[in-house]
Amino acid sequence: MITSSFQASVAVCALVILHVSALDTFIAAVYEHAVLRPKATETPVSRDDALLLMNKNIDILERAIQQAAAQGAQIIVTPEDALYGWKFTRETIFPYLEDIPDPQVAWIPCQDPHRFGDTPVQARLSCLAKDNSIYVLANIGDKKPCNSHYSTCPPNGYYQYNTNVVYDAKGQLVARYHKYNLFSEPQFDAPEKPELVTFDTAFGKFGIFTCFDILFHDPAVTLVKDLQVDTILFPTAWMNVLPLLTAIEFHSAWAMGMRVNLLAANIHYVQQNMTGSGIYAPDSPKVFHYDMKTNEGKLLLSELYSHPRKSPAYPAAVDWSAYATTIKPFPVQKNTFRGFMSRDEFNFTELFENAGNLSVCHKDLCCHLSYRMLRQEGNEVYVLGAFTGLHGRRRREYWQVCTMLKCKTTNVTTCGQPVETALTRFDVFSLSGTFRTKYVFPEVLLTKVKLSPGKFEVLKDGRLVNKNGLSEPILTVSLFGRWYTKDSLSSSGGIRNLETTNLLIATFLMIIVLQIL
Ligand SMILES: *[C@@H]1O[C@H](CO)[C@@H](O)[C@H](O)[C@H]1NC(C)=O
Ligand SMILES: *[C@@H]1O[C@H](CO)[C@@H](O)[C@H](O)[C@H]1NC(C)=O
Ligand SMILES: *[C@@H]1O[C@H](CO)[C@@H](O)[C@H](O)[C@H]1NC(C)=O
Ligand SMILES: *[C@@H]1O[C@H](CO)[C@@H](O)[C@H](O)[C@H]1NC(C)=O
Repeated sequence: MITSSFQASVAVCALVILHVSALDTFIAAVYEHAVLRPKATETPVSRDDALLLMNKNIDILERAIQQAAAQGAQIIVTPEDALYGWKFTRETIFPYLEDIPDPQVAWIPCQDPHRFGDTPVQARLSCLAKDNSIYVLANIGDKKPCNSHYSTCPPNGYYQYNTNVVYDAKGQLVARYHKYNLFSEPQFDAPEKPELVTFDTAFGKFGIFTCFDILFHDPAVTLVKDLQVDTILFPTAWMNVLPLLTAIEFHSAWAMGMRVNLLAANIHYVQQNMTGSGIYAPDSPKVFHYDMKTNEGKLLLSELYSHPRKSPAYPAAVDWSAYATTIKPFPVQKNTFRGFMSRDEFNFTELFENAGNLSVCHKDLCCHLSYRMLRQEGNEVYVLGAFTGLHGRRRREYWQVCTMLKCKTTNVTTCGQPVETALTRFDVFSLSGTFRTKYVFPEVLLTKVKLSPGKFEVLKDGRLVNKNGLSEPILTVSLFGRWYTKDSLSSSGGIRNLETTNLLIATFLMIIVLQIL
């Protein structure tokens, strides 16, 4: 029939267009921004002063956005807190905030700047996207009036959110995300539930979260695992913490562990160890920047697959404990000793020989290492360490960590303390552990805080191994696991975790059932 064949040809035509216009690769940009901060963050300023400062920061971002677009980038991520810095009270952040509408309103602030009241920051950001025909992610503050009779409504009558906005290449607001896992930010409120924010483009499906969110299951893991996004946009104001949690080290490892593209834009503020941005693909870091020497910002660009899952480079799924649980453990060392990495109590064992096979266990986590090293002068001490438990002072996140690291000095009481340089190279390392979680992030950090793209890989059985010959001198090789279901629900205490909560609910239900009977 004419109509049906017509419909069929329309469908074929649409498919062809879809095929042609959906891009296989795209160019991504991130900008590490040396933020201009207010002189004082403890005393309130006027809205005009707040705007003056934000516009000075946007002037700098504008140049980065223009440069990125000129070099063909389709999307750029700018950092968290990039317009005004951090360390505010609820009152002193207020003049910096604007009411940001839901993207469903289909708004191009650049063309219609007065539609939602006083929104000059949103209008300017939208114009930057539109004038340069590039997607722009910026982090700004949102305020939402609430009824002060409502119990969770703050006394000033506003919820205040740490917020990411994305404008498309026409300047339209296409995404708004309120940060869920706040990190010492009394000026902001967390939304009631984690928001799962995604948007589709001709170059893949994108998801968004912010800074500390990356350490938790929601929304970060859900965006990748359930919503199958291709690329995560990740603005951050990340303070580097050696040996396991420097920005480039952990963010690149998360991209590999989750097998997703990650565009990480950090603040540049060396006085507080904030530096380290990058563009990370599932198989390897593409480009990264770490600079403790200058006070300059930095633009990074790289080409990425739009749909990494369909790309030839997509890595196979890893069974993180397959190797470690099937081998006969190496003899557990007699000279295992207790050590501390910040507040976490590790079990360590020293790499005495130049080559060997070692195991060290901490509770039910056993870590295995095979290695061969080329020691240089300086007698550096390396240890293999294991830790499983609730981490740090907050005791909120449950960690499972296997790590081989250089100790700060030859005195083993310094193992786990920050150290930035090393001389010892390895031509063999193979690290594995009996992880009880599927979420493990493989880290390799070299001397002077550099990544090691192309020089290591993760095998399907969970071994993190050296490849392509002798390594550069190594600070740490680690498997950083997060066992989210054992996280503590309350930020203090650490006694109540999800499993005990389930137990309580089960007991409660049983009592009810018994009463009914
Ligand atoms: C920055 O890092 C160094 C070494 O890693 C540490 O000693 C110092 O305390 C850190 N500074 C801040 C402000 O956290
Ligand atoms: C480590 O174990 C492997 C096999 O598991 C063996 O071939 C190698 O010789 C061992 N290395 C050392 C130094 O003991
Ligand atoms: C640390 O290792 C020693 C020696 O293998 C072991 O006896 C001890 O139980 C370990 N500590 C923990 C907390 O598992
Ligand atoms: C190692 O450091 C600890 C703590 O600072 C100290 O008590 C100990 O004497 C040192 N050991 C050696 C061999 O220097």
